[in-house]
Amino acid sequence: MSTETGPRGPSVTPSGAISSNPLPAGGPRVPLPTDKELVLKVVPMPADCNANGDIFGGWVMAQVDVAGSIVPARYTQGRMATVAVNEFIFKQPVRVGDILSFFAGVTRIGRTSITVSVEVYAERYTTQGQYVKVTEATLTYVAIDAEGRPRPIPQTAG
Ligand SMILES: CC(C)(COP(=O)(O)OP(=O)(O)OC[C@H]1O[C@@H](n2cnc3c(N)ncnc32)[C@H](O)[C@@H]1OP(=O)(O)O)[C@@H](O)C(=O)NCCC(=O)NCCS
Repeated sequence: MSTETGPRGPSVTPSGAISSNPLPAGGPRVPLPTDKELVLKVVPMPADCNANGDIFGGWVMAQVDVAGSIVPARYTQGRMATVAVNEFIFKQPVRVGDILSFFAGVTRIGRTSITVSVEVYAERYTTQGQYVKVTEATLTYVAIDAEGRPRPIPQTAG
């Protein structure tokens, strides 16, 4: 069935997609991770788009950096810095109005650093409850002191 633009903007298809913002045809629907914690939910806005009208990858990376830092902050109990984006995969485009859910879990705790796996899932605004995995990433954070030097992660942390 085709869609039309109504007097108040884009119309909604029977599948729930917004006509100006269709679902990716092949985007697989997946269950949410059970081994990670939901640390952040955010909805990207038109100001976050690239020239193609999709959400700018750098915006997604910034959100992943924030989301990834939340669990390590429990361990570092103080100032820390991102030392590495070990891996970053954009699996599906993110679109304006998607509800993004960021799941994170610690994969390694070193002497001064913590490595985290982050997975991002999108719900299209009008088809909530159906998730598409859009991004996965691995980042490493380092506990730092007041001078910005690495410091040991407190033993009592976590
Ligand atoms: C983070 C920072 C203090 C680390 O200083 P450093 O002298 O490189 O520290 P070290 O070599 O002793 O490494 C510290 C920890 O980071 C880890 N690390 C360093 N480089 C890494 C990399 N490329 N990937 C994964 N882990 C890394 C080390 O393994 C070590 O972890 P461990 O103690 O648990 O084994 C320093 O690199 C820094 O200030 N970087 C800028 C941080 C920043 O501005 N981030 C925001 C960028 S947008």
